[in-house]
Amino acid sequence: MGRSIDRLLADFGHTLPTTPTTQRAKSQRVFPSAPSWRGRPKKGAGWVASRPPVRRYRMTSDQAGVFWPFLTGTPLPVSGAPMGTDMLSGATFYVDPHGWVLDDAVPVTNPNIFVFGKPGRGKSAWVKAFLNRMFAFGYQALILGDPKDEYEPMCRHFGVEPISIGPGQPARLNPLDPGPLATDWNHLTRAEHSRRVGIILGRQLQLLSSLISAQTLGEAKVPVGPTEAQILRRILEHLTHATTDTRGLRPIVIPEIWQHLHSPDQQLITDLRYSDRESFLRDTRLLRDAVAQLVSGPLVGIFDAPTTIRIDWDAPIQSLSLSRLMALGDDAIGMALMCLNSWGTAARQTSQRRRINVRDEVWRQLRLGTGAVASFDADLRLSRSNGDIEIANAHKPSDYLGAGHAGSQAQQIAKDLLHLADTRILFGQDPEIADDLEHLLDLGPTARDVVTGWAMNGKGRALACVGPRHYKVALTLHPDLEAPLTDTNQNITRNIPPNVPPNVRANVPPEARR
Ligand SMILES: Nc1ncnc2c1ncn2[C@@H]1O[C@H](COP(=O)(O)OP(=O)(O)O)[C@@H](O)[C@H]1O
Ligand SMILES: [Mg+2]
Repeated sequence: MGRSIDRLLADFGHTLPTTPTTQRAKSQRVFPSAPSWRGRPKKGAGWVASRPPVRRYRMTSDQAGVFWPFLTGTPLPVSGAPMGTDMLSGATFYVDPHGWVLDDAVPVTNPNIFVFGKPGRGKSAWVKAFLNRMFAFGYQALILGDPKDEYEPMCRHFGVEPISIGPGQPARLNPLDPGPLATDWNHLTRAEHSRRVGIILGRQLQLLSSLISAQTLGEAKVPVGPTEAQILRRILEHLTHATTDTRGLRPIVIPEIWQHLHSPDQQLITDLRYSDRESFLRDTRLLRDAVAQLVSGPLVGIFDAPTTIRIDWDAPIQSLSLSRLMALGDDAIGMALMCLNSWGTAARQTSQRRRINVRDEVWRQLRLGTGAVASFDADLRLSRSNGDIEIANAHKPSDYLGAGHAGSQAQQIAKDLLHLADTRILFGQDPEIADDLEHLLDLGPTARDVVTGWAMNGKGRALACVGPRHYKVALTLHPDLEAPLTDTNQNITRNIPPNVPPNVRANVPPEARR
C-alpha cells in the first residue's frame, strides 16, 4: 500500500498517460443522444443485466511493444461443426472442410482430414464427434472398415444396424465391383465409355496388384512388375468384356482371375506373346500362387463372391465391422481394409447428400508395403473427384511410408500422400515422434512442442493444422450423448472390481487398453 503504480513507473522513467479531460461539446458529438450501454431501462427496449466482460488495459506505446503484434490467431469462418475451443482466442473452433475449400480466405484446397496421435489420445472420439455434429448439415458417413467394432454403438444410436464382416458371417463383398459407374453402359458415348473403362479397370488392377504384393516371399514382397500388370490387365479386359462389348460390363470375382491364370485360353497366350501354354504357366507360377492365396487364404468366403450387402444411402451412417477378422492376424485385417477402401471408393452413388468416408486405423493397411500405400493413395485420389470428405486416422506420419521403407525417396512418397489432406489434426505424441512431425509435416519447433507437450496432458487436446495455420484446440465431448458413444475404455473399466475408487477408474492408462 502507499504509492500508486504511476508513481512507481515514474521512478523508472515511464509516464502513464492520463485520461483526457477535455470533453467534446455536446453539439459536436456524432451521436448526441446515444443511450447508455445498458440501453433504455424499459420493457422491450434492450436492457442488459450485466456488462460484457471486456478487460481494459492502459499503457504507453513503449510498453505495448511487449504485446505486439496483438496476436489473437487468424479466425476461421463460423460455419460447420463446432469442434472444441481455440485455446488462443477462447473462441469456438469450427470445422467445415467443404466451406473452407470454397472460401478463398482459408488456405485449403481439398476437404480431406488426416488425424494423427498416440493410441488412446482421442482420434476416434474426435471423428465420432465430428460425424455427430456434421449430420445436422445433412452429411452421411461411411465407415470403411471398423477393426474394433467401435462405431457400432454410434450406428445403433442412429437406428442403423452395422454390417458385420468375417468368417462365418453371411455378408459377402466383392472388391472388384465396378460400382455405379457401370450403370447405363449401353447408352454411353465412345469417349465416356473409354473414360469409365480406364477408371474401373485401373482400380481393379491397382487393388489386385496391392493384394498380391502384400504377400511375402521369405523376407521380400511378391513382385508385381510390368509383366504381371500386363497379364492381370489382359485378364480383366477379357473377363469383363470391357473393351469388346458395349452392351454391359460383366461383373467378375477374384476366383475367376485365378481360374483364367490356371487354365489360360490360346487367345491370352498369344496376346501376351508367350510361345506356348507351358512357358506361360512356368513364367506365371509365382503370380498364380499369390492369386491362389487370395482365393484360399484367410479372406476366403468374404471377398471372393458377389456382394450381398446393400448400402442404405438414406441412413446417416453405415459401418462395416471387422473385429471378427482380428483373430486371423494383422495381415488379414490390412488386406480386408484394402478391399473395403477400394470397394467403398467405387460404391459411390450419385446422390444429393454429401458423404464423409472414414478410414480409421489405416496404418494396419499401410504397413503391408508400398503396394498398399499406392492403393490407398489411388483411392483417395479417385474419391477426390466425388468431392467426399475423406478422414484417415493413423498413429504417426511415418505410417504413410509403408513397411520397411526408409530414406529420402520413401519420405517423398509419404509427403506426397500427406498432401492429399490439407487439414491435419495432431493429437499428443511421444517425443520420439518429434522427428516425424518436423520432417514429414514440416512443423516448426513451437508446434512440435505443443504436440509432444500440451496435447499429451489432456484427452481431446490437439493441434489443428488448417493448411499452414495452426490452432491449439481442446475438444469437449457431450457428457451424456457423445462420451458414452466414444468410450473405447469400456472393456477395461468393465473388468475393474467395484471397490476401485472412481478417480483410479478414470485414470486407467490408455496403453492398457490394447
Ligand atoms: N475429448 C475427450 N474428452 C474426454 N474423453 C475423451 C476425449 N477423447 C477421447 N476420450 C476418451 O478416451 C478414450 C480413448 O479415445 P479414442 O478416441 O478411442 O482414442 P484413439 O482413437 O486415439 O486410440 C475413449 O474412452 C474416449 O471416450
Ligand atoms: Mg481409435
